[in-house]
Amino acid sequence: MEDFVKVYDNSQQVNSYIKEKDLQKPEQTILNKYFEKIKNSVLLDVGIGTGRTTYHLSGIAKKYVGVDISQGMINGALENFKNQNIEFKVCDARNMSIFDDNTFDVVFFSFNGIDHIEIDERILFFDEVKRISKKDALLVFSTHNIQNIPKLMRLKLSSHPIIFYENFLKFLKLKFHNLKRDFSNKKVIKINDGVHNFGFVLTYINPTHQKELLENYGFKNVCCFGYPSGNELNSTELLNTTDPWIYFSCSVNS
Ligand SMILES: C[S@@+](CC[C@H](N)C(=O)[O-])C[C@H]1O[C@@H](n2cnc3c(N)ncnc32)[C@H](O)[C@@H]1O
Repeated sequence: MEDFVKVYDNSQQVNSYIKEKDLQKPEQTILNKYFEKIKNSVLLDVGIGTGRTTYHLSGIAKKYVGVDISQGMINGALENFKNQNIEFKVCDARNMSIFDDNTFDVVFFSFNGIDHIEIDERILFFDEVKRISKKDALLVFSTHNIQNIPKLMRLKLSSHPIIFYENFLKFLKLKFHNLKRDFSNKKVIKINDGVHNFGFVLTYINPTHQKELLENYGFKNVCCFGYPSGNELNSTELLNTTDPWIYFSCSVNS
């Protein structure tokens, strides 16, 4: 089992995700923008955790299926939505052979779940999305922004001594966990960013590069949305944004 799955399977992690129910602003923007497409769709929600997005998407879609690689998270989702007729399954985004070709109108992979997949393996997910999606389906996902790294790695100053001490400790831990990593002039990097008590290494990507990759893979109408603002970003804004993560939407099989 991969290290990050052990982290998500842990009951403490499951309990903290269970409390989360709100959409992130870019998810809300995307929901508004594509409401007609999402309404009455057959929708696959990948990496659902305990179902934060299920609250918002399952009532709109005609059929909603939620999957996650972590059995612990899926158990949490089943607990959250017991007595409701919603399908949840354990499934790895890189191999979705449990689903037939040409099944879904919409595929979500929210809140940076894709960053657990190494850059060379992401093509497995994107190929699976093409296979299981109908013509002109919608794909939505988010990924961490490499341009945020200088902000993330900086020592955050504070006049409050306890807060300063905590910031300093975090700064040292970030340095320690990433001693051998070179973040300069790269389009894609791996980083331990401290999330879940430095529990795993994630992939961060340059958002313009991510957009180009999607276009090269044949996805159309690629749009980008910043977190936390939820604003749609044009190409110039994408080049300069230091938002921690970016949501992408695009058309599949168009
Ligand atoms: C940051 S959590 C987000 C959970 C949920 N989407 C939310 O927003 O609350 C990332 C989730 O992606 C799942 N995940 C990571 N890699 C996955 C993969 N290859 N296939 C399916 N799920 C995956 C993890 O198990 C975890 O539940």
